[in-house]
Amino acid sequence: MASSPLPPAGSAVIRTKNLSHSFGEGELRSQILHNLNFQVEAGEVTLLVGPSGSGKSTLLTLIGALRSVEAGSLQVLGEELCGASEQARVQIRRRIGFIFQSHNLVSSLTVLQNVQLLLQLRQPDPQQRVRQATALLEAVGLGHRLHHYPEELSGGQRQRVAIARALAPEPELILADEPTASLDSQSGKDVVELLGNLCRNRGSAVLLVTHDLRLLNDADRIWRIEDGCINRWTPDAAELALH
Ligand SMILES: Nc1ncnc2c1ncn2[C@@H]1O[C@H](COP(=O)(O)OP(=O)(O)OP(=O)(O)O)[C@@H](O)[C@H]1O
Ligand SMILES: [Mg+2]
Repeated sequence: MASSPLPPAGSAVIRTKNLSHSFGEGELRSQILHNLNFQVEAGEVTLLVGPSGSGKSTLLTLIGALRSVEAGSLQVLGEELCGASEQARVQIRRRIGFIFQSHNLVSSLTVLQNVQLLLQLRQPDPQQRVRQATALLEAVGLGHRLHHYPEELSGGQRQRVAIARALAPEPELILADEPTASLDSQSGKDVVELLGNLCRNRGSAVLLVTHDLRLLNDADRIWRIEDGCINRWTPDAAELALH
């Protein structure tokens, strides 16, 4: 299967207009996201920060077409998700790489087999699949762990397998929800640097939800959600110096 062409660097991969979201019905209804207007550009690492419960994961699941968009406009990879059919949402999901904190690696498969699994749809030649999966795992520093099982790896190594797996189908957009939460400081920085390098080289976009303010220096752009609203955030020099 041919991969879809990547958007040119600097073009919007995600664009919202007055995007809102509520949970619950009747008296229990509570609005979590209020008229969000923001965008995420190709070729950039964008951080999404904000207090616990502010709606970061909810927003990520809307963008990932894992939840229906009810109010406002949300365009992802050129497709409008508000009012999109389940079939259209499945199509969009196939174009996105997901990295969530629970790695969801298949425990009965080796590291190499886990990454190959994601190549099956697009690469019919098994030898090519092995070559591509090996190259990705080498790029994330796991060339020496190809035949290990997930349980034999450290948390940081598992997270790097999850990254290699998310990158395998060459997605135009990668969504990551707290990918560094279980990692020590250096591993966390390494993971973000790796995502940044791999994505900038390919011109795809990374949207990364994090509480980890140590990553502020590694992002191209930062958006902050608070009280249901989103704003561009530029940490001042003092904040950056702290991390
Ligand atoms: N399925 C749901 N049904 C009802 N309320 C929900 C649901 N999912 C999330 N919420 C509520 O929406 C709000 C935002 O949750 P969300 O998980 O998006 O926050 P978050 O910013 O990711 O928080 P954290 O940083 O702790 O992960 C919270 O008040 C949460 O209780
Ligand atoms: Mg969350």
